[in-house]
Amino acid sequence: MSILEISGLAKVYASGTVALSDIDLTIQRGEIFALLGPNGAGKTTMIGIICGLVTPTRGTVIVDGKDFRQSYRKVRRKIGLVPQELHTDAFEKVIDTIRFSRALFGKAANPAFIEELLRDLTLWDKRDAQVQELSGGMKRRLMIAKALSHEPDILFLDEPTAGVDVELRRDMWRMVRRLRERGVTIILTTHYIEEAEEMADRVGVITGGKLILVEEKQVLMRKLGRKRLTLNLDTPLTAIPVELAEWRPELAAEGHELVYEFDARAEKTGVPSLLRRVSDLGIGFSDLNTRQSSLEDIFVELVHNGQTA
Ligand SMILES: Nc1ncnc2c1ncn2[C@@H]1O[C@H](COP(=O)(O)OP(=O)(O)OP(=O)(O)O)[C@@H](O)[C@H]1O
Ligand SMILES: [Mg+2]
Repeated sequence: MSILEISGLAKVYASGTVALSDIDLTIQRGEIFALLGPNGAGKTTMIGIICGLVTPTRGTVIVDGKDFRQSYRKVRRKIGLVPQELHTDAFEKVIDTIRFSRALFGKAANPAFIEELLRDLTLWDKRDAQVQELSGGMKRRLMIAKALSHEPDILFLDEPTAGVDVELRRDMWRMVRRLRERGVTIILTTHYIEEAEEMADRVGVITGGKLILVEEKQVLMRKLGRKRLTLNLDTPLTAIPVELAEWRPELAAEGHELVYEFDARAEKTGVPSLLRRVSDLGIGFSDLNTRQSSLEDIFVELVHNGQTA
């Protein structure tokens, strides 16, 4: 069953900027959805509308069967938001920030829940610290704790791992998976394709305010995936021999690798003929491997071509 239904959503800011046009999107309960898009694509605007912070110009948002505009308070309680910009009261104590936030949504106090939440996010030891005493990474964790303080059914993470270290990123991924196990629906925006690839069940690609693609991650990677053949050369090359020009391979690892990209679905991949030609030329290689191109390659290609699939 769907938990979020967006239809015909559009936003034109007072400045005249068209931030979103005709967005239709349905999110299933319990899924992890990654919204990928370059700067200014409209990701934060879209989340802002769903969270009631930005007024849409057109369109409807239905959360758990309820229209946002008709039952704002009820709907808003179901949603947790970790905003892109961190803003918290610098002088407040960590634990109070979480308690107040929970109370704001009309939830009864629950010290045991708050302790667990802070422990999960490795903030328990800092519970009595003022927010201003936290490092940037800890502030991010705090924003997550705050967003989860009222036990929302849907969690929005707007660039949750921008500028955080690898360890914290992995912690967040782990936390997101745990939340999903508890049935929380998660929608995250990210510039890190790696993150979408690692986390998401489905991926939406947004650019110029248009959702140009929504696809199961696995399907997307299969459907659009190209493959890459890499030959580890015995002797490094300084240039691509003209005899190989028609395959348009590239050199990598300072000439130690010859890389050929091909369409894995094509009838003729060009791989056997390339290998024959390589051997005819007496170019020796000690190893070869192929790899499915990553979501990143796909994403860059899509955004560049602005194509719809
Ligand atoms: N309050 C605002 N007033 C006017 N224009 C805005 C406002 N907020 C955003 N915009 C414009 O709307 C467009 C979409 O911005 P938005 O912040 O939604 O993008 P984004 O995908 O979140 O980008 P980023 O990856 O940089 O966070 C941009 O052109 C931006 O300049
Ligand atoms: Mg943004």
